[in-house]
Amino acid sequence: MSKVNLSVNLAGVDLKNPLVTASGTFNPQAHSQFYDLSLLGGVTLKGVADVAWPGNPTPRIAETYGGMLNSVGLHNPGVEAMKKEDLPFMEQFDTAVIVNTAGHSIEEYCRVSEALQEESRVDLVELNISCPNVKEGGVTFGTDPKMVEKVVAAVKKCTKQPLIVKLSPNVTDITEIAKAAEAAGADALSLINTLFGMRIDIYRKKPILAQKMGGFSGPAVKPVAVRMVYQVHKAVQIPILGMGGVMTAEDVIEFIMAGATAVATGTANLVDPMAPVKILEELPQVLEKLGVTDINEIRGIIE
Ligand SMILES: Cc1cc2nc3c(=O)[nH]c(=O)nc-3n(C[C@H](O)[C@H](O)[C@H](O)COP(=O)(O)O)c2cc1C
Repeated sequence: MSKVNLSVNLAGVDLKNPLVTASGTFNPQAHSQFYDLSLLGGVTLKGVADVAWPGNPTPRIAETYGGMLNSVGLHNPGVEAMKKEDLPFMEQFDTAVIVNTAGHSIEEYCRVSEALQEESRVDLVELNISCPNVKEGGVTFGTDPKMVEKVVAAVKKCTKQPLIVKLSPNVTDITEIAKAAEAAGADALSLINTLFGMRIDIYRKKPILAQKMGGFSGPAVKPVAVRMVYQVHKAVQIPILGMGGVMTAEDVIEFIMAGATAVATGTANLVDPMAPVKILEELPQVLEKLGVTDINEIRGIIE
């Protein structure tokens, strides 16, 4: 039995360990067939909107070196269906539940948060600001600091649980966006969402994704994610849920040293459903090798 303390506190919520699953890459019903979800620090459910969204046309997944592209387009059954299916299912597990929310307008984001206010199984709400803002010409909410401040301030008012704001990496200066979210009342930040990418099938002379472009994720994006977590940790006081290409226990430690309080696996859950379990087995061993007795000791130690 390892003596290393793995428990962390994310925006007032105690997690038994820092490992969480990332939104859209994890399905409680499917993944619980492989392992006991109570092993995890937390789970993040797929992005959910006020009503069902059909998602984008297929093909909407493409593999690439060290990662994948997706243009799933936040296909989801709507918040009421999630309340009937996923939240009751999560009752049997002792792990934190984060609900990731999507919207095309501030009003839509608020409607999802309002629908979750009385749900005791929801520990944290994660606002995905990488959605297109239909009222402002389809520009992504998360790429303009003024828009970030507006949406976060509004959603904070209609959210009862601590609010994590999930940042898009497709910006010039991530610290400006992070500071805007903090100023508007975010309790924590999560980063990174996917990078914008594209692949072409040279034989068909067509983009592989029906949508042409999509979100790039997986181990190839990790250095970008670690850099952004490092920069954001230096710029704000609120805790960070770090993610982007995490595959191993060493990756988790890298994110924590850069400044993350908790760390999520995304694409890894699709490559190997057992990835979080393997990481959690190795994490105390690697920390012991580093002479660490409490994971909180190494948070943000990089100058
Ligand atoms: C298939 C797929 C679906 C995703 N769906 C969502 C989503 O609904 N909401 C969200 O905020 N992020 C979503 N993401 C982004 C991930 O949560 C994560 O931020 C990103 O993939 C980087 O982590 P990774 O490199 O470990 O996958 C999705 C990613 C993938 C690959």
